Amino acid sequence: MKPLIVIGSSGHAGSVLDCIEMEGQYKVVGLLDSFEPAGARKHGYEICGAPEDAARLSAALSCRSFFVAVGDNWSRSRISQQLRADLPDAEYPSIIHPTAIVSRTVRLGPGCVLLAGSIVGNDVIIGTGCIVNVAAAIGHDCRLDDYASVSGGVRMSGASSIGLRSSAGVSSTLIEKITVGRDAVVAAGAVVFKDVPDEVVVFGNPAKIVRQRKPDETYLR
Ligand SMILES: CC(C)(COP(=O)(O)OP(=O)(O)OC[C@H]1O[C@@H](n2cnc3c(N)ncnc32)[C@H](O)[C@@H]1OP(=O)(O)O)[C@@H](O)C(=O)NCCC(=O)NCCS
Repeated sequence: MKPLIVIGSSGHAGSVLDCIEMEGQYKVVGLLDSFEPAGARKHGYEICGAPEDAARLSAALSCRSFFVAVGDNWSRSRISQQLRADLPDAEYPSIIHPTAIVSRTVRLGPGCVLLAGSIVGNDVIIGTGCIVNVAAAIGHDCRLDDYASVSGGVRMSGASSIGLRSSAGVSSTLIEKITVGRDAVVAAGAVVFKDVPDEVVVFGNPAKIVRQRKPDETYLR
């Protein structure tokens, strides 16, 4: 198995680590997290340092593969872009849980995770660093732009799209041909019948714009 360093150690990182173990292609050699002391253990792995230590640890551990397992879309995009700038020749694999059902026609970018029980239909395009969470279903011809995420149980009907760093909250539903803009949040449980512009939060059924949001504003507890 190839060695892999994982950035992040939160609950989402735990799900990603489980997925890596189930997939069986990579051996995790350590975690990097700025919020945990070096030497601590999380999810059965050692925290070896912070994300800024990636280049040093890559050399020390003879590891050229990295996965950014940070749930927040803005933070994941910032960390991933810095990592790619520091280590442009490293490998950034996507991880697919063995129970995910993924059409052979899906185009999947690097650094994505498709978690347990997710379903990705034909001709879907998924960019860099996206999260498809447990039991989410993405219909035919949908698109996830870079660092977008769909939470557990999301339903995306055919030809819908989610923009750069936007999030579809747990159990939300998008009817067909809906476009969600950049840095938007579809709240948990929302049912979206109209396109969602950039930098807004939408709630409810039918989903309505409730406020503007900044790209770096938190939306996860
Ligand atoms: C949308 C969200 C970010 C909260 O946005 P917010 O603007 O900060 O909203 P607040 O928490 O201040 O709540 C404001 C009001 O909206 C209500 N509200 C919050 N989320 C709601 C939702 N998903 N649907 C309907 N109403 C909601 C609150 O109950 C509150 O009502 P009140 O004023 O009557 O008390 C959050 O609720 C959400 O859905 N996050 C996504 C969580 C998720 O999917 N997690 C999965 C991670 S994998």
